[in-house]
Amino acid sequence: MLVALRVRYNPLIFRTTFKSCLCLSTSAPNKPPTIPLLGQKYPTDSSTNITSAITDKLARNLYLEPAHPLGILRSVVERHFSDFTALSGWSPLVTPSKNFDDLGFPEDHPGRALTDSYYINRDLMLRTHTSAHEVEVFSRGERRWLLSADVYRRDEIDASHYPVFHQMEGARVFPATPAGMAEVEEDNARLTAHLERSNIVIEDVPHISATNPPQPTHDLRHAELVALNLKLSLNSLMLSLFGGRTGTSGEPLRVRWIEAYFPFTTPSFEVEVFFHGKWLEILGCGVVQQQTLNRANVPDNISWAFGLGLERIAMILFSIPDIRLFWSKDPRFLTQFAAGEITTFKPYSKYPPCYKDVSFWVPDTGLHDNDVFDLVRDTVGDLAEDVKMIDTFTHPKSHRTSRCYRINYRSMDRSLSNEETNDLNAAVVSRLAEAFGVEIR
Ligand code: PHE
Repeated sequence: MLVALRVRYNPLIFRTTFKSCLCLSTSAPNKPPTIPLLGQKYPTDSSTNITSAITDKLARNLYLEPAHPLGILRSVVERHFSDFTALSGWSPLVTPSKNFDDLGFPEDHPGRALTDSYYINRDLMLRTHTSAHEVEVFSRGERRWLLSADVYRRDEIDASHYPVFHQMEGARVFPATPAGMAEVEEDNARLTAHLERSNIVIEDVPHISATNPPQPTHDLRHAELVALNLKLSLNSLMLSLFGGRTGTSGEPLRVRWIEAYFPFTTPSFEVEVFFHGKWLEILGCGVVQQQTLNRANVPDNISWAFGLGLERIAMILFSIPDIRLFWSKDPRFLTQFAAGEITTFKPYSKYPPCYKDVSFWVPDTGLHDNDVFDLVRDTVGDLAEDVKMIDTFTHPKSHRTSRCYRINYRSMDRSLSNEETNDLNAAVVSRLAEAFGVEIR
């Protein structure tokens, strides 16, 4: 009877109430003076670029629902690190200082750009990663902690990218003293013994190298012991999550470590797991930059930290084929899962896709792909499965540039009629012209 109850889709209901916020020009006319977020009003300015498709998500807290795949995965990781303090429910509104400066991001880091992150105004943004809370949690004196939260990044639209996703940060702090290092050694011996008894093959890289240097203020032996503790702790987490599951049955779990770079850790690593015939990037981690601990007022310590994306891992473990499904309110999705259990998603029917191409002349002031993607998301919600720029050319005489985007419309829970898809596309086209002054071809 669900079908009978469903209201026929009206493209207008997705129209944002502050649509001009999509306009990224320095002066943005028609922007409302304030926007309401999580029960409070915030002033807008020329940096404001958050859309209503995003603000609607701020209070969903999917990762806190015990029987939602994201909540289940969160609890499985929390169960693994059972002696860590599990933190959650922290507001996604942070200052750019917290998200970037405190962690040593350079002034010109691309993540800071309006095209890459969502700003409420120049002094307030949506966190782009859970590392934004490192200083605050360290300053509380937490020695072993996990923090789960929703994070936001402007990005492309396809089956594995969504502008809102979830991360889990984890960290462990040791006193930089002989007693602290004895604690690390003891833990390393315990974890090594556990891993030696397990069906796991690890491809490692040196804890420290010329390309993955230690920190000048660190005792080299301390840094090596802590990096080893990080690797052993995460190899053991990988075993809990991926070991002995279908696709790896009988075969040892393969984990590989790769040197990486993050402004707030060194040495830094990425972890990949071989699953269903492919290497999958699972998380980033490293030895925390001393300036983070100093800023948090816990200077005489040494720490490791990691950050993992919950969607990516949940899509693999639960066999969820499209990232939009996490946001589905369809009982055929939601009733499949039970608290504490990783089970395989049984797809209900996949409805037919319908492509529409939109071609236009780009205004002289330019237009970023992410502005187009956000406008599509804001206009048609999750009915856009993916959006790709499929063609671009510059006219030899007028020097104007034309672009063509292909929008693939498909609903997760019903069939869209051609008429409805045409309406959706017409709404996108008219808003593109309105918000960015593009000339439709
Ligand atoms: N914050 C990083 C990201 O979002 C991940 C990370 C966390 C890396 C902690 C190192 C330490 O990609």
